[in-house]
Amino acid sequence: MPRHHATPRRFLLCPPAHFKVTYSINPWMDPTKPVDVPLAVAQWEDLRDRYRSLGHTVEELEPRPELPDMVFAANGATVIDGRVLGARFAHPERAAEADAHLAWFRARGWREVREPVHVNEGEGDFAVTASYVLAGRGFRASPLSHGEAQEFFGRPVIGLDLVDPRFYHLDTALSVLDDRGDDVMYYPGAFSPGSRAVLARLFPRALVVAERDAAALGLNAVSDGLHVLLPQAALGLFEPLRERGYEPIGMDLSELLKGGGSVKCCTLELRP
Ligand code: ARG
Repeated sequence: MPRHHATPRRFLLCPPAHFKVTYSINPWMDPTKPVDVPLAVAQWEDLRDRYRSLGHTVEELEPRPELPDMVFAANGATVIDGRVLGARFAHPERAAEADAHLAWFRARGWREVREPVHVNEGEGDFAVTASYVLAGRGFRASPLSHGEAQEFFGRPVIGLDLVDPRFYHLDTALSVLDDRGDDVMYYPGAFSPGSRAVLARLFPRALVVAERDAAALGLNAVSDGLHVLLPQAALGLFEPLRERGYEPIGMDLSELLKGGGSVKCCTLELRP
C-alpha cells in the first residue's frame, strides 16, 4: 500500500450566514425546499474546525446577504504558485462574487491577481494535480478559459467534457487525492467518451467511483494528501480510500447539498 503524507494547506472559506436557495442554476437546487440556516452554519463550522484540527490554515471571506451561493468559495478563484486567476460566473445571480474574491486577494497584498476574460468558476472547474490542471467544460466554464488558465499559470491544462447536468462542475465528478503525485478519483459517467479515454490514459490507477457515490456528491472532496474529507453519505468510498492508504473523514453538509455543493465547493485552496 502506498504511504501518503498530509501537507499543511491554506484554505479560504465563506460562512453560510446568508445561504438560501432562491433560484435554481443546477438540478440540486429546489427553491421550494426550505433551508435551515443555523444547521447550515453548524455543519460548515464543523468543516472549518476539522481543517484547523488537521493543522490547516483557514481564512474567512465576509459573506454578503445578496449572494446566497457565496458559501461555495471554491468558485471564486483559482490559486496556483501564488498566482490568482479570478472567476467570471456563467449565471448573473453569482456574478458579483467574482469581485468580492478579487478584492479579498488585492487587499491582502497578493501581487499576481488577474481578472479573467473568459467564463470560469474557479476550482469548480479547475483541479490541480502534480502534472496538470484538469479543466471541466460543458455547463459552466468556457472552453476558452482553459487556454487563458494555461497561459496564466504556465501549466498544461487538460480540457474535459462534462455531460451529466447533476455533475455540472468538474469538482462534482473528479477529485484529486494526492497532488504531489497524480492520484485522482472520478465518476466516468459524468464525462464524454473521449474525456473518459483521456482520464483512463492519464490516470490508469485512478479510483473509479460508482454512480451512487457520485450521486451522494462523494467526489466533492478535499484531500490534504492523506486525509480525505468527503460527504459522509458516499458510503462506498470509505473502504476503497482506506485500501489506497488514505484516511477518509465523513462530513455532514446536508443543508449545503440543497445548493448543489459540499466539502470541496466550500473550500478554495490557496496554493503558495
Ligand atoms: N449553487 C451553486 C451553483 O450552482 C453551487 C456551486 C457549487 N460549487 C462547486 N464548486 N461545485 O453555482
